[in-house]
Amino acid sequence: MTKRRLLTGLQPSGPLHIGNYFGALKPFLSMYEEYESMLMVADYHALTTQKNPEELRRNTLDIVKDYLAIGIDPKKAVIFRQSDVPEHMELAWIFQCLVTVPFLERAHAYKDKVAKGLEANAGLFAYPMLMAADILLYDTDIVPVGEDQRQHIEYAREAAVKFNNAYGDTFKEPREKILRGVATIPGVDGKKMSKSYGNTIPLFGSKEEIRRTVMSIVTDSKGESPEIVYAIHSSLKGREELSELYKTNRGNYKALKEALFADIEREVAPMREKRASIGDEDVKGVLAEGSKSARKLAQMKMKFVREKIGIAL
Ligand code: ADP
Ligand code: TRP
Repeated sequence: MTKRRLLTGLQPSGPLHIGNYFGALKPFLSMYEEYESMLMVADYHALTTQKNPEELRRNTLDIVKDYLAIGIDPKKAVIFRQSDVPEHMELAWIFQCLVTVPFLERAHAYKDKVAKGLEANAGLFAYPMLMAADILLYDTDIVPVGEDQRQHIEYAREAAVKFNNAYGDTFKEPREKILRGVATIPGVDGKKMSKSYGNTIPLFGSKEEIRRTVMSIVTDSKGESPEIVYAIHSSLKGREELSELYKTNRGNYKALKEALFADIEREVAPMREKRASIGDEDVKGVLAEGSKSARKLAQMKMKFVREKIGIAL
């Protein structure tokens, strides 16, 4: 029996934070050896917001270092860069020709970004169809992501259905894998932790930086239990362990933040050490290998797709 396919991707749009780690990367790490796994750097997606070439280059190398540092073995997962496989763009275009403008207008991520005053470029609008292409190109079964990406996976399923209805059975309908409990990790201000809100606890910050951000978490002065601290803590520890800790330290916000900091540090310290030993050249080697494997799969699938739609003569 062939193994099922697992795929996820992150945008190289800034340093990863613990929300990215607990929401997407850790679930990927806990499952990836049981699947044919692929981990992508979504650099074309990042282009919707990133306009600085030096930063994009740096973030791309850095995010692969992060993937390797958290323990993903490039021999057991295909680690690749979206832009190394131009078939993603080609398939995205084909999907864009199958869906309507009102359908894309309903995307929460797009609406949220526009509401926050981000420039509504056409790439941002078509974003879900590029993501559908990322996923469907490899006949992906499972996509581990955080809660905020749920609708994007629905869009990928819709794209598969629309294509299959129009041209015959071609694409598998993927499922999201969203871990309960860690679905959306709040940032230090209580809003969703996000690279674009400046409220993150950096995954690979220095010990001092992590300590400082944990100590800056907004505490609710009304309750005896600091809600945001607790919500972040629950991605690291089970409910029973936490209830003991939060009972013993009721009202002592400083002690609870110290405990959260210690738990994050315990998880992150070994990865931080590993990360320091990974160089840019190691990353380039991994991407060269991974992109070759990904491209081979993508070309096979696109050959089939082109025949279906009448592009291959
Ligand atoms: P960001 O909002 O920080 O830019 P991305 O959109 O690049 O994050 O998300 C990368 C992955 O990390 C996605 O799977 C996303 O669902 C997950 N993720 C991002 N923020 C959080 C969060 N606060 N809690 C849980 N998962 C998150
Ligand atoms: N949109 C995702 C995010 O912002 C990143 C992404 C791009 C992705 N392509 C993907 C995630 C394919 C999973 C599968 O987090």
